[in-house]
Amino acid sequence: MPKFTLDGKEIAFEAGETVMEAAWREGIEIPHYCWHPGLSIAANCRMCLVHVESGRQMAMPQLVFDADTGEYVPASKPKLQPACQLAAVEDMVVSSTNAEVKNAQASVQEFLLLNHPVDCPICDQAGECKLQDYYYEHQGTLKRKLTEPVHKPKGVRFGPTIVYDAERCIMCTRCIRVCDEVAKDHVLDMRERGNRNEITLAPGRELDHRYTLMTEHVCPVGALTSQDFRFKARVWFLKSGQGVCTGCATGCNTHVDYDPRYGKVYRLRPRDNADVNEFWMCDDGMMTYTRHDTDRLLMPTAGRGEERTPVAEGEALELAAAKLRAVDASKLAVVLSAQHTTEDNLALVRLAGALGTDRLYLAALGGWEGDDILRSEDNNPNRAGAKQAAGGATLKPVGELLADVQSGTVQGVLALGWATAEKLEELAPLVALDGVVSLTSHIGALPAVASVTVPVADTFEVAGSFVNAKGLAQTFRATLSPPDGIEPAWKTISGLAGKLGKDLGFEDLRGLRQGLVDAVEAAQ
Ligand code: SF4
Ligand code: SF4
Ligand code: FES
Repeated sequence: MPKFTLDGKEIAFEAGETVMEAAWREGIEIPHYCWHPGLSIAANCRMCLVHVESGRQMAMPQLVFDADTGEYVPASKPKLQPACQLAAVEDMVVSSTNAEVKNAQASVQEFLLLNHPVDCPICDQAGECKLQDYYYEHQGTLKRKLTEPVHKPKGVRFGPTIVYDAERCIMCTRCIRVCDEVAKDHVLDMRERGNRNEITLAPGRELDHRYTLMTEHVCPVGALTSQDFRFKARVWFLKSGQGVCTGCATGCNTHVDYDPRYGKVYRLRPRDNADVNEFWMCDDGMMTYTRHDTDRLLMPTAGRGEERTPVAEGEALELAAAKLRAVDASKLAVVLSAQHTTEDNLALVRLAGALGTDRLYLAALGGWEGDDILRSEDNNPNRAGAKQAAGGATLKPVGELLADVQSGTVQGVLALGWATAEKLEELAPLVALDGVVSLTSHIGALPAVASVTVPVADTFEVAGSFVNAKGLAQTFRATLSPPDGIEPAWKTISGLAGKLGKDLGFEDLRGLRQGLVDAVEAAQ
């Protein structure tokens, strides 16, 4: 690969790459605002100016004082160039740290802050704001402008999800480009000139496409804030786990930002993965974190409707085992879940095998509108993983389970998860059965018709894997601890197997995963 030198270090590059891109790939940050690896080049912020010390220089005319003649004479010097737009050329020598570049960085920074309100104490971006970071790294001087700053609109509602503060905006146009290039919707643009510049909506429009939260995500300052996150948390209190979105079968990679003091998730952010989601997520996926705290099942229960009562933690599995023991194994249905990890589903398949039933069904949400950007039409994260866990066996839908219950072929049910496309009234045939056990993290239609419910951990609380629509298996770790007394479903299933006198052949997650490898190999 050809190489150039940046600040004394050799950097390999591919044909067509810019200095910024090649440096970024090597993990070297040249200060920048408007450049984003997933967007086209705008080269308008000028924060990334570098000095081409040898190679393809651009000459800048200047007047130099001649001490001998006492006159200014025409001369030229290499012009500083934006690294985000500067094509890398073999053997060129570039500095992003010499005195001239440092002077330029400080000047650009000072210019961007001339009219800035510096309302960091009430700004949601504080703590992860490029203006703050670069002020400390590249400027650090007191404000010289003593006149009143230019005032612009604040708290402008751009749409249901995003609020705009024009005074904080540095006009980098990332938000415009993310709408144009990712969402393919030219809903944002720029108006006025100079220090009156501001971002504006297309006439008659709101910012309401399916990727609006990506505008806030790419905004390097606090000009765009999300309605959902603003004023809720200070980012320096948050820690981050690595997850996979549960919104659909694309399986976008996520940063799960949570406050360890409360065990509470505050937001998801896209985690870069060139093979899956590049740098992006859709709005619905970003909001899936809100499911975590909503309608959680925290206590085991027995009975249905008004007769449903809490059961002591230690008794729940015994009760569930008693219900299942009373069902003839040949008439027991086992329902896997397209919302649960492959490991949870595999444990359930093992239990079905140990009990002697091959009646396997799959509960899944009924689909939503996909697109050719990221969203899959299947709004379940792990349909493919559940199928893998079943060793490629056909998994019948819940609709067929209902028919089998009505025909008397099925007389007991062990179901994983809350998510199913069927509404509560459609699940009415299950209410006729005494032995319907639900292992679930949340309440929902399936748990509502169960005679015994046992709480299990939610996705943020487990380590596991999902297989996306393209067949890519992605593992993730637990971000939060489950509530007291609640365990991952695979562990609960193992405990239930113990009560039923069965051994599922694994001791821990590692052993279970080995079983998964065996199951996949056997199916090939
Ligand atoms: S709102 Fe943010 S992303 Fe958009 S131009 Fe202003 S600073 Fe850039
Ligand atoms: S496209 Fe699917 S996986 Fe990606 S963020 Fe949206 S819902 Fe989540
Ligand atoms: S990052 Fe290069 S000009 Fe903005």
